[in-house]
Amino acid sequence: MSARPYRALLLSGPNLNLLGTREPDVYGTTTLDEIHAQATELGRSLATFVECRQSNHEGELVGWIQDARGKFDGIVLNPAAYGHTSVALRDAIAAVAVPTVEVHLTIPENRDRFRHRSLVAGVCIGRVSGFGANSYLLGLRGLIDYLRAR
Ligand code: DQA
Repeated sequence: MSARPYRALLLSGPNLNLLGTREPDVYGTTTLDEIHAQATELGRSLATFVECRQSNHEGELVGWIQDARGKFDGIVLNPAAYGHTSVALRDAIAAVAVPTVEVHLTIPENRDRFRHRSLVAGVCIGRVSGFGANSYLLGLRGLIDYLRAR
């Protein structure tokens, strides 16, 4: 069991910059900045540097995933709507082989049919959904446990 400091990249996809005001009955009232602060703090307590980024652009997310190889030990990814549509995101995760945890605030399978399919699940090491903002923290914890155990 290794205890070296890890580097985790926490990525959020489209419309998650609006958390706090975006459909609060569905996504809650916690803002993405608050999630980033909580993840940074949790990372600090677990000897892990957490870098947080959000983009509304598929290509930018693909670029960040590609660039993660050799720079980050793992990724926590809320792909948002792109999780249901983006072969490019899936291929980027598979290409870099950086352990990636898929997270969602809601349980997509309990919602519209078009949200039931995840294109990224098959290339991720795990998935956390349904715990609101806490899904990010649980996903980060799971990633760090995975890194320590391997
Ligand atoms: C989401 C679920 C997706 O279906 C949706 O498009 C989002 C947010 C979630 O965190 O629950 O934007 O990824």
